[in-house]
Amino acid sequence: MDQQKQISILKELLRQIDAGANADAGVQYKVPSSIYADRELAAQEWEQFYKNHPQMIGLSGDLPEPNSFLTLNDFGVPIIATRDKDGRFRAFVNACRHRATRVESAPRGKRKLFVCPFHAWSYSSSGELVAIADESDFGPVDKSCRGLIELPAVEAAGLLFVHPQPDGDLDVEALLSKPLLNELSSIGFDTVVYGAEKTIDKNLNWKLANDTFGETYHFQKLHKDTLGQLFIGNNTHLEEFGRHHRFTTANLAIHEMRKLPEEDWQIQFATFVGYHLFPNIQMFWTGDTVSLVRIYPDVDNPGRSISHVSIYFTPEAYQNAIAMDDDAREQAVKDTYKFEEGATRSPSIEASLEVFTSTIEYEDYVMGEYQQQAAESGLAGEAIFGRNEPVLHHFHRSYRDAMGLPHFETVE
Ligand SMILES: [Fe+2]
Repeated sequence: MDQQKQISILKELLRQIDAGANADAGVQYKVPSSIYADRELAAQEWEQFYKNHPQMIGLSGDLPEPNSFLTLNDFGVPIIATRDKDGRFRAFVNACRHRATRVESAPRGKRKLFVCPFHAWSYSSSGELVAIADESDFGPVDKSCRGLIELPAVEAAGLLFVHPQPDGDLDVEALLSKPLLNELSSIGFDTVVYGAEKTIDKNLNWKLANDTFGETYHFQKLHKDTLGQLFIGNNTHLEEFGRHHRFTTANLAIHEMRKLPEEDWQIQFATFVGYHLFPNIQMFWTGDTVSLVRIYPDVDNPGRSISHVSIYFTPEAYQNAIAMDDDAREQAVKDTYKFEEGATRSPSIEASLEVFTSTIEYEDYVMGEYQQQAAESGLAGEAIFGRNEPVLHHFHRSYRDAMGLPHFETVE
């Protein structure tokens, strides 16, 4: 991100902090709680945003070398993603061409050859059918026509995108816009190293999970003992890129940064810079780490969603993290919410994941579960998105545009 942009965002956050007032969208919206429980909406979302929409599945560091692979099954098609022997990112339907069982079940790893566990047909990392067991008994098969079914796959700015349909249109520049793609490219998402992951499976609609990442109004309330120890709260910078956005909020280091000359300001050390890639991606850059959250509905239940959280590190921070001994790792987890300790030490893998347990899983998503229960009762009425919640406004406006729904009514 260019320096002038960083300075202008940081100045706006400082202005809000000094004024004691959050961003002001100038309008409040009425939000019918039914949007989180409606089964017809959920079915339309699944078709439109998941089964037939480009999906960001990870970062380049998830496939660190030739023959690395990932498997996933989050949006209606079992996927095996690989970096082939030539280093190219590829994606296939994870189904053997014999009887369609999964050729690989491990979540990630490295293999030159995927051997189907059912009858041992084998495939290369570029999807070719290499060998058929007992081929003379089985009868002739034209191997050149029976490779794994390939899906559109594009690696751009260090992000991995797949289209779940073999004939799907996957134009990442058109999807994200050139300005956003350029900005993402400038950050270095292509250089970070995969560290760890966790899955949060909870009883809240996928949009409520997204909403968790949509305002700073709650930081010093719900998170006063967790994230609120690190982030100031009640300050928000939002920049929209079509349906996507960047969302920035200050941590305590912004007070030190303001004492430095502006040319030395570095946004990643005084804020988290969050990118929301519509519809279901939240990605946070904090300098040493990147946290990726991919949020998926349960196709059969609008009241459940699955969030996959992956943590990545710069190569240097990763080396420091894996060099920590057990005592240092344990201490880092205890110190997760001690700002001074965190500011002077390289991040640990365990502490980086811990934030998503204590703050997101045990605080934010618990609120989401309560909201879900109320929404499903049919008696929750309308929620309100306040003037200080512009990020929520943008996500829901994008959502309603995409779904062909009218915008929410404003509170008069
Ligand atoms: Fe929160």
